[in-house]
Amino acid sequence: MSTGLYIHIPFCKRKCNYCDFASFAGQEFLIDDYLTALKKEAALLPVHFYHTLYVGGGTPSLLSVRQLEQLFLIITTLSPSVSSFAESTFEANPESLTKEKISLLQHAGFNRFSVGLQSFDEDELRRLGRVHTADDFLRAFESLRCSGVKNINVDLIAGLPGQTLNKFLRNLEKLLALRPEHISVYGLQIEEGTAFFAQGLVCDQPLMRTMLEETRVRLVANGYHHYEISNFAQPGYESKHNIHYWQYGEYVGLGSAAASFLGGIRSQNVPDVREYIHRVSAGKSAVVFSEQLTGKALEGEKLMVGLRQLDGIELTATQWDFFGPEIEKHIQNGLLLQENKKVKLSEEGLFLANEVFYSFVAPFDEK
Ligand SMILES: C[S@@+](CC[C@H](N)C(=O)[O-])C[C@H]1O[C@@H](n2cnc3c(N)ncnc32)[C@H](O)[C@@H]1O
Ligand code: SF4
Repeated sequence: MSTGLYIHIPFCKRKCNYCDFASFAGQEFLIDDYLTALKKEAALLPVHFYHTLYVGGGTPSLLSVRQLEQLFLIITTLSPSVSSFAESTFEANPESLTKEKISLLQHAGFNRFSVGLQSFDEDELRRLGRVHTADDFLRAFESLRCSGVKNINVDLIAGLPGQTLNKFLRNLEKLLALRPEHISVYGLQIEEGTAFFAQGLVCDQPLMRTMLEETRVRLVANGYHHYEISNFAQPGYESKHNIHYWQYGEYVGLGSAAASFLGGIRSQNVPDVREYIHRVSAGKSAVVFSEQLTGKALEGEKLMVGLRQLDGIELTATQWDFFGPEIEKHIQNGLLLQENKKVKLSEEGLFLANEVFYSFVAPFDEK
């Protein structure tokens, strides 16, 4: 069975005001020790055939050339080379993705780059706490193209504080003009623990919905395949690594906060970077949480992850047994559609997916 490999790089130049990912600013002095710990953690993994690789963060492009070379050495202890993966994605932020790093990464075998843009508008970028300008992004994008990179994803966020529909659509049009192979558009989530949450910001949900509806209309009209709630790709450029995850495939996560799913057991590494380094260098496991999902909880999670895909999924008899009434209810209220043997989110369901997913999460009795 094929397995996805994820490597987490938790360092960032500055913490963005909306971000609750396991990433930290001002800890770059720990990167060398972190890489040593990653190497040690990798050496303890059982042998797998890894078919996709995703180096994410945090900001992997913050690593220096020397540190990237160390990272490649770690990867080659797990797989013959970076180019032997069917897809190998490197996540980058515009300000730190230099020509030198692009050439090194390409040479090592990375065949997909994912760049976080979020907005082209300087005021919006400042408000988000981003350290880059729109020009930094354009420079990075052009460098990727000049180096011959043929598979680029760009992330945008919709529903930013003070953002009008027109302003958002301008961001989208500017991005479309560059024709990246893949575009991810996320509706802003105000997460607890972020600066935005502390400022008491709230999202204008109806406006955000209009932005996301327009995104779908425009990207589809421009030849992009809407294949997952937030993801659009030119045909053939859908992310293999992420599809594997939505299809409930196995994956191994290396690094602080990284999650793994192997043999039905889901586990998570300690999120604190120092604690991760400390544990691994002392020969201890980095895992702080693990559980084996079974029965209704397992099937519910499969539905929740699988239904993110716009094509939907074919439900098993067991899944119908567990969730038949809930699924029928969502078909009747127009959030799910049943087509041939598959069940999928309707247009309406795309924007109210959490309402559907809530039915598949334990505890079940209280709903
Ligand atoms: C792993 S994160 C960050 C990747 C990279 N460090 C960056 O900042 O570009 C991937 C993407 O999730 C999105 N994202 C993160 N936090 C979000 C939030 N609170 N609401 C909506 N989108 C978010 C952003 O578009 C971001 O680029
Ligand atoms: S959005 Fe990206 S750059 Fe900003 S803090 Fe989060 S992981 Fe770091």
